[in-house]
Amino acid sequence: MNNHPLELSRAAQAIRREVSGPRADGNGEIPRLRFAPRGTTGEDDGGTWPVLRLGPLQAPAPVMAAPMAGVTNRPFRLLCREFGRGLFVTEMVTARALILGHPATRQLVSHDPSEAPRSIQLYGLEPAAVAAAAALIRRENLADHIDLNFGCPVPKVTRQGGGAALPWKLGLFREIVGRAVAAATPIPLTVKLRSGIDEQHLTFLEAGLAAESEGAAALTLHARTAAQHYSGRADWSHIAFLKDTVKSIPVLGNGDIFEADDAAAMLTETGCDGVVVGRGLLGRPWLFADLQALFDRRAERLRPNLRFVLDVVKRHALGLVEFTGSEERGLRELRRHMSWYLKGYRVGGPERAAAHRLSSLQDLDRLAVALDPETPYPGRVAEMPRGRGGSARRPRLPNGWLDSNQLTPAHRIALAEAERAADNAAIDGG
Ligand SMILES: Cc1cc2nc3c(=O)[nH]c(=O)nc-3n(C[C@H](O)[C@H](O)[C@H](O)COP(=O)(O)O)c2cc1C
Repeated sequence: MNNHPLELSRAAQAIRREVSGPRADGNGEIPRLRFAPRGTTGEDDGGTWPVLRLGPLQAPAPVMAAPMAGVTNRPFRLLCREFGRGLFVTEMVTARALILGHPATRQLVSHDPSEAPRSIQLYGLEPAAVAAAAALIRRENLADHIDLNFGCPVPKVTRQGGGAALPWKLGLFREIVGRAVAAATPIPLTVKLRSGIDEQHLTFLEAGLAAESEGAAALTLHARTAAQHYSGRADWSHIAFLKDTVKSIPVLGNGDIFEADDAAAMLTETGCDGVVVGRGLLGRPWLFADLQALFDRRAERLRPNLRFVLDVVKRHALGLVEFTGSEERGLRELRRHMSWYLKGYRVGGPERAAAHRLSSLQDLDRLAVALDPETPYPGRVAEMPRGRGGSARRPRLPNGWLDSNQLTPAHRIALAEAERAADNAAIDGG
């Protein structure tokens, strides 16, 4: 059934030429395709959007807010939910931290009573630990959906054989997914993948097929390799390829959706069943309004002036103060969002600097007074890529990791040690 990853790599390149030809337009723009998504139900003059089902759970819309460490906590998810429907995933927590019951981890997976459905993202390296965490979520009714993260490219994670390095060891990957699915049932469990370790070691097809056969309810593919980190463009042909290969569960596409039209283009070009939006939401939770409009077939898009932005910022601040239990900590957390919120708006240097020094709600009020609320929407610049970018780098891996798809006894021991060390949730999940 499974080809060697090198063959997958060649096949992926052939598909890429076929599928992503229209995107290679030389100036980095994604052409706006006529709306005609595949694999859909219902009808409309231009086609319909997919209905996304995760096992027993029907998603409110075929869109998921990507798990983002340090961002998609309860206050941010609540803001996004105000603007549109979808699935909203917690930031990643490690299986071990959840099992140990650390208060900070408990807080990260906590939901507001108004949140439905609830989605938690888990990360782990050992089948028993991940299964125990999934069982805990089910037993304590902490979520309606669990997402497993196999996409992290961070060196300290891949160096241990975790994150995006792990699906290369297909047997281990299969065992983690299979045991977690069994422990989570009836809660649907989805799997988030990257394309692979690098172009020579693509893993998404074999891992996707393995997850499907182990009972995963859906797959998300961030169509970049770990080597790419966040650089370059996501290769949507991988999403199309996965969608054409995996027959019985939905495939969600992820990578480089910065506006609603990008979501339409991804659904159209790749035939995927739903989209996952990450960096496009940074400082722009109202992108969910545009996505909602897209799925409701409304042409209007939110183009807020600064008054609107400041109102959202204020509510984000209040949410963070409540969430962190301290005005100072809440405002400190808010600081990292401020350059995203203000991106493109005509705001002077001193005000931008003040935005990065916020430490009280009064500071925020002072900043709001110093800004002109009628400052208009800046246009295209607000819809450009934001958040992480950077350059490609060779992934750090355990010695001899790429020699074989089998796990050596030494690697097994190293993974068990890494699992034990992953006792806090502070791994930068990406
Ligand atoms: C700040 C930040 C934190 C992230 N944290 C996580 C995480 O905890 N778990 C995860 O699976 N992916 C994480 N990611 C990756 C995103 O979920 C997503 O896959 C990636 O950003 C690509 O989607 P985008 O192009 O829409 O941003 C993170 C990304 C960013 C920018």
